[in-house]
Amino acid sequence: MRAVLHLIAAALLAFATAPPVAAQSGAVTVYKTATCGCCKLWVDHLRNAGFQVQVHDLADVAPHKARLGVPPQLASCHTAVVDGYVIEGHVPAADVQRLLAMRPAVTGIAVPGMAMGSPGMEFGPAVAYDVIAFEPDGTLELFASH
Ligand code: CU
Ligand code: CU
Repeated sequence: MRAVLHLIAAALLAFATAPPVAAQSGAVTVYKTATCGCCKLWVDHLRNAGFQVQVHDLADVAPHKARLGVPPQLASCHTAVVDGYVIEGHVPAADVQRLLAMRPAVTGIAVPGMAMGSPGMEFGPAVAYDVIAFEPDGTLELFASH
């Protein structure tokens, strides 16, 4: 019994310490404004999850949102790109990893606005929020609910 427990513990440890597979497939490029505190906390969240993150501090992120095809109604503070996918707003790292594993035919995924309790927005009581996938033709679909 003890040996079995040791095996389970070793397996759990290996799982916990192994770098996320998805994070190895590409670095994340983040566009944000220098003064955005929640953006910085989201970058920390991604790095803690094993992603390599390159940050671009800009005066205005809006041109990048337009260039990358973020639907205006899904806009948040920061915009990111990883492996050809656009990540808008406070999307949990686990959802980014699932996106990279599934590789659906979408432009990207977004958490619109500033959902309290989402990664980087842990300043108050958490609210329920959705992660929305968006396609080039404007089609939106639910990717995850939290
Ligand atoms: Cu934010
Ligand atoms: Cu942000």
